[in-house]
Amino acid sequence: MSSNIVVAIDGYSSCGKSTLAKALAKKLHFIYVDSGAMYRAVALYFIRNKVDSKNHEQVAEALKNIHLNFHSRDYQTHITLNDEEVSAEIRQMPVSDKVSEVAAIKEVRTEMVRQQQRMGKLKNVVMDGRDIGTVVFPHAQIKLFMTADPKVRAERRYKELLPTNPDMTLEDVFENLAHRDYADTTREESPLTRADDAIILDNTDLTPEQQLQLAIDLVMPFVIAAK
Ligand code: CDP
Repeated sequence: MSSNIVVAIDGYSSCGKSTLAKALAKKLHFIYVDSGAMYRAVALYFIRNKVDSKNHEQVAEALKNIHLNFHSRDYQTHITLNDEEVSAEIRQMPVSDKVSEVAAIKEVRTEMVRQQQRMGKLKNVVMDGRDIGTVVFPHAQIKLFMTADPKVRAERRYKELLPTNPDMTLEDVFENLAHRDYADTTREESPLTRADDAIILDNTDLTPEQQLQLAIDLVMPFVIAAK
């Protein structure tokens, strides 16, 4: 096992993983990696270039032409797709509707996991996603599996998206989350599942400050031991 600290945060769609991951990384001065943003950027490329997810040659060609880069400013994810900033566009509904299909493709996962493992090799990182504690970093020192009531999750995401999507309804968001949870947990490649050694964190009734404190208490012993 490497000596750097890895905090792996997995869980269902929109249950506060990135809020916690960002806050934790900021507090501990770790690097934050939003693995979902990578799958979203790939999905955006597939939409724009009409890549057929079932066509292996098209997928392989697309992966050769996709270059992703993270820039972290104040622990906000800024991701570029072939040098274009796409951080806002990847959060919009067309990408949310497509991303689970793209994330189920074996070749896509192999490439993303390779890049994620490289990012977590030398530095202390907090990474959130669906397979971080099971596939990307099975030896992570801290693994959290986050969950929350589906209605609460939909309401939180709805509030987040409404300012830029005035026509969207709460039902649209609820359906998208339910669809992605189903696709993510039932896919063949690295389905979302709790690692045996992951701690379950249900944040339905927790404030962001409370969930942050819980996570800090878990990670601190490793930070102290590493000093
Ligand atoms: O923020 P939210 O919970 O809505 O999702 P996200 O973390 O941005 O991830 C978007 C989608 O990417 C998920 O629904 C999964 O289909 C996929 N994903 C994945 O398969 N593996 C990961 N490590 C991260 C995301």
